[in-house]
Amino acid sequence: MNFNLKEKIAFITGSTSGIGFSTARILLDQGMQVYINGRSEETVNEAIKKLNDSVSDANVFGIVADFRSSSAAKNCIDQLPEIDILINNVGIYKSQSFFETSIDSWIEQFQVNLMSGVQLSQHYLNGMLKRNWGRILFISSECAYLVPQDMISYSSTKAAMHATSRGLSQLTKETGVTVNTVVPGSTLSEGAQRFLADKAQVEDKDLQMIERNFFKTERPSSLLQRFASTDEVGNTIAYICSPLASATNGSVIKVDGGSSGGIF
Ligand SMILES: NC(=O)c1ccc[n+]([C@@H]2O[C@H](COP(=O)([O-])OP(=O)(O)OC[C@H]3O[C@@H](n4cnc5c(N)ncnc54)[C@H](OP(=O)(O)O)[C@@H]3O)[C@@H](O)[C@H]2O)c1
Repeated sequence: MNFNLKEKIAFITGSTSGIGFSTARILLDQGMQVYINGRSEETVNEAIKKLNDSVSDANVFGIVADFRSSSAAKNCIDQLPEIDILINNVGIYKSQSFFETSIDSWIEQFQVNLMSGVQLSQHYLNGMLKRNWGRILFISSECAYLVPQDMISYSSTKAAMHATSRGLSQLTKETGVTVNTVVPGSTLSEGAQRFLADKAQVEDKDLQMIERNFFKTERPSSLLQRFASTDEVGNTIAYICSPLASATNGSVIKVDGGSSGGIF
């Protein structure tokens, strides 16, 4: 499918692997210029190599930045002052008891998951409004709705993201800019694989059993009853980035296999 994205420039945070990486590959296939991001030169270069191997003439570049630091956004903006599409994808998560989650860990999760997107949007939205075209996407989670008891801090960062995203969309009235939130469900990224491995260790069970039981015990509301692939999520993100999705603004688009439920 042609998403009419040729010649647009996108920046995807946290994209050397997982959903961000798949999205980068899909957007590169559309002829876009894509900037990927990770915390180290090594992982960024490795991801660029993989993307060059899988997409011919890939117009891909990398920005090394660790969004645990509040100065990371400024570093990105210095290297890449204007873009057409910002995908606030970076997100950190782990299974942990509320009582054992330190305040520093809460603050770090808010910095990485929410504030990185706030800081980048504060800059990039201006240029998009001036040029009368742009896309900002916030990648939330089914956890914003389900709030699993072992992911309260993470779920809180994602719930806050919905308000930020909706608020920013209100600044785009009567322009060609849109701001939307995409809500993945359980998706088999490298991060999710690590999450399952941690859980197996905490619960002293083998990994296969954890995976098998995950949907029965922790995501019984999932209609999909399996992990989505990162491409299944990336395809939806790519569509929302495209001019084809011009009438979708201030919205929440779910790719959660039905897990969050609700009819509105
Ligand atoms: N997977 C799921 O089941 C799921 C479900 C719902 C929502 N989501 C959301 O979808 C988004 C992507 O998740 P994912 O599972 O695909 O991710 P992931 O596999 O955990 O991907 C990690 C990516 O984030 C980068 N990263 C991690 N910490 C970073 C930091 N401090 N600064 C910059 N980059 C950082 C990593 O880069 P380096 O290793 O190169 O540093 C890597 O590219 C997240 O916002 C997540 O909350 C995921």
